[in-house]
Order: sequence, then structure tokens, then C-alpha cells
Amino acid sequence: MNVALVIPAAGSGERLGRGVSKALVDVGGTALLRRTLDRLAAAADFVETIVLAPSHDIARFEAAVAGAGSSLGSVRILAGGATRQQSVAAGVAAVTSSMDVVCVHDAARPLVSARTVRAVVEAAFTGGAATAASRPSDSVRADIAGGNSVALDRSTLWLVETPQAFRREILERGHLEAVSRGNAFTDDASLVEAIGHPIHIVESEGRNLKITLAADLMLAAELLRAS
Ligand code: CTP
Ligand code: MG
Repeated sequence: MNVALVIPAAGSGERLGRGVSKALVDVGGTALLRRTLDRLAAAADFVETIVLAPSHDIARFEAAVAGAGSSLGSVRILAGGATRQQSVAAGVAAVTSSMDVVCVHDAARPLVSARTVRAVVEAAFTGGAATAASRPSDSVRADIAGGNSVALDRSTLWLVETPQAFRREILERGHLEAVSRGNAFTDDASLVEAIGHPIHIVESEGRNLKITLAADLMLAAELLRAS
């Protein structure tokens, strides 16, 4: 099985508010992007890795990935787009046609476990499309008519994360259809589901934290130190 890795890292990190690309922010002495790549390199063998970066920051990203693990295969840094969907689309368009599966993982999730990565990739190979996800730990309510809300059963709900993995042609078709219909999606499982393909869920092992706010950064540094 030939697996490509696509890492959307072209966001500006507005909510983190550091004034630099979020993927380059220091987490316990190492750039966030490098932390995430090192996790993936330890988890599985990839033939190629494509990192989507802000177009003004390509050189700094090159420096941050220099010397990364050989299990990432050939590593390329390409310019991302204005939205996450456009960034991933640019990565998918650059994937070599000999790849069977494409694994998409946000640079912003440095704590993903090796077992989660492997399970998502395996599930994509057998079923075509898979995502990591976790159950909500809070109680959840939904808006209903009349300005009221109703309790939902959280044991039936999933918080969607990355990694997500797909057979290459399914993910390509999902992105092409999204563009031709003018639809915007916040994750790749949603745009693949929109072309009628079911999504297999893999429950994340451990805390697959996404770095969004300053407090997430402190927690991630602490968790990474303990792991
Ligand atoms: N991303 C991307 N291209 C964009 C926007 C986001 O590749 N145009 C990536 C981010 O770099 C991140 C992942 O998508 O790895 C998830 O996005 P998010 O956590 O929202 O990161 P940012 O968009 O950078 O943060 P913010 O929304 O606070 O600006
Ligand atoms: Mg964002």
C-alpha cells in the first residue's frame, strides 16, 4: 500500500494571536509542525509528504522540516490556499498518481497517537474513507424552534478530528465536486460524504488535542513532556 501524507499548515493562527504562522510556533523547544511530523514519522511509512504552507513562509517551513524522519518519504513544501479546503486541494493535486491512500492531518494536532494514525490509514485502504474522532465530554444541546434547545445523547455524537484518510481517487473526486458545486467544507470527510461515500470512524486513542488558543499550547507542551 502506497500512502501519501498531506499536512495542511497554511493557516495564520489568528485565534492563537502570535503574529506568526501557527505551525512555526515553539512547543517546548520545537516548532509545532515538526512535532506533528515527528509523530507521524514514528507511526507509519509514507512514500511522500506534502506540507501546505503560507506562500510568504516557504523558506522558514523548509528549515523547520529539514532532517525529518525518512519514513515521511520525499517531503515537499507547497503554497496553500485562502481556506483549509483550498490548501488540502493543492496538496491532493500534487500527490503522485501511484499512491493508493492519502492521509490528511492538520499541523495543529501534534499529540495524535501512532495507533490512531495506523487505524485510520488501514480503514481507508479497506473501506475507502475514514476519520479519527472523539466523543464529547460535555453534555450537548441543539437549537430547536422558538428559541429553545433540546438535550442530545452524547454517546451517539462524534467530534471530528484528523487524521482522515481516503483512497486517492475518492478524495480527488470529493475535492473536484466541491469546487464544481461551489460547496465549502471544514473537513475532507464532509466533502467525501457529499459524493455519497460512507465515512468509517476510528475513535482516537488518548487526547488528540488541536492547538487553537494560547491555553492549548501550554497544555500541549505539558502533555508532550509527559509522553
Ligand atoms: N489551514 C490551511 N490553510 C488555510 C487555513 C488553515 O492549511 N487557509 C490549516 C491550518 O494551518 C491548521 C489546520 O488547517 O493546521 C486547521 O486549521 P485551524 O486550526 O483553524 O488553523 P488556523 O486557520 O491557522 O487558525 P485560525 O483559524 O485561528 O486562524
Ligand atoms: Mg482556521
